[in-house]
Amino acid sequence: MKGIILAGGVGTRLHPITIGTSKQLLPVGDKPMVYYPLSVLMLAGIRDILIITKPSDTPNFQALLGDGSHLGLHVSYREQHSPHGIADAILIGAGHIGDGPVALILGDNIFHGNSFSATLTENARSVHGCVLFGYRVNDPREYGVGESDVNGNLISIEEKPQHPRSNRAITGLYLYDNDVVDITKNLRPSARGELEITDVNRVYMERGRARLVDLGRGFAWLDTGTPESLFQAGHYVRTLEERQGVRIACIEEIALRMGFIDADACHRLGSRMASSDYGKYVMAIASDRG
Ligand code: G1P
Repeated sequence: MKGIILAGGVGTRLHPITIGTSKQLLPVGDKPMVYYPLSVLMLAGIRDILIITKPSDTPNFQALLGDGSHLGLHVSYREQHSPHGIADAILIGAGHIGDGPVALILGDNIFHGNSFSATLTENARSVHGCVLFGYRVNDPREYGVGESDVNGNLISIEEKPQHPRSNRAITGLYLYDNDVVDITKNLRPSARGELEITDVNRVYMERGRARLVDLGRGFAWLDTGTPESLFQAGHYVRTLEERQGVRIACIEEIALRMGFIDADACHRLGSRMASSDYGKYVMAIASDRG
């Protein structure tokens, strides 16, 4: 399965912070935001990853992640010249997707929870149609909102409804079989002029091939779209990390645990950042495993 991280967009709700830099490179705790969605794909066992950025941000992402080989990954980049909607990522990434399945994740979505890795691997193993992940939120009007039947099949989906039919927000992680490319090519822009991912998901639903997996109440799905939510996400991460002494979304640690790199390589990555606590953590993890 291939992976795509959509890290485009202008982040207007975070202005002036995002005037000079990409939203997905802003810090959440002590690491850049994009580490969190990247971790999700890595935990699903995905190693071939396309990052879609806006043109002015590409050099910064490349400086951060390069070609991904140091993490045992293959990371490539494509540009989105203006924000045409989330589904546009499927069109931009069609060559990367090829003829197999794909996991698309939004570069500003943070997922954290026990056994998430198992949930992901289980659902990514064989995707027939699409798999969406739902999360209960207090006010779902800002999101795609879905309902499922007792078997987990999606039975309704609406984008930012005024009167939501459920509290289940559709999170920004989508697993698709290869039909997604044709479905997206046939999509028309919505009233706001965007290719809506909700319209893609609705086509799958109408074909009876969309599942909605509930992430459960012990899980954290966090937003980072406003200064307040960005701060809350950073606070959440730091609280857990300090309490437990383990890091969330440490990509070097995940690469090591997934067997993408060995302990020596992991230690070298840490030693390049030895002045920071993050770098020291990476070295310590590698030494434990060495
Ligand atoms: C987008 C999707 C929405 C989804 C959300 C998750 O909203 O359109 O369905 O629930 O991402 O973050 P947007 O960020 O474009 O407002």
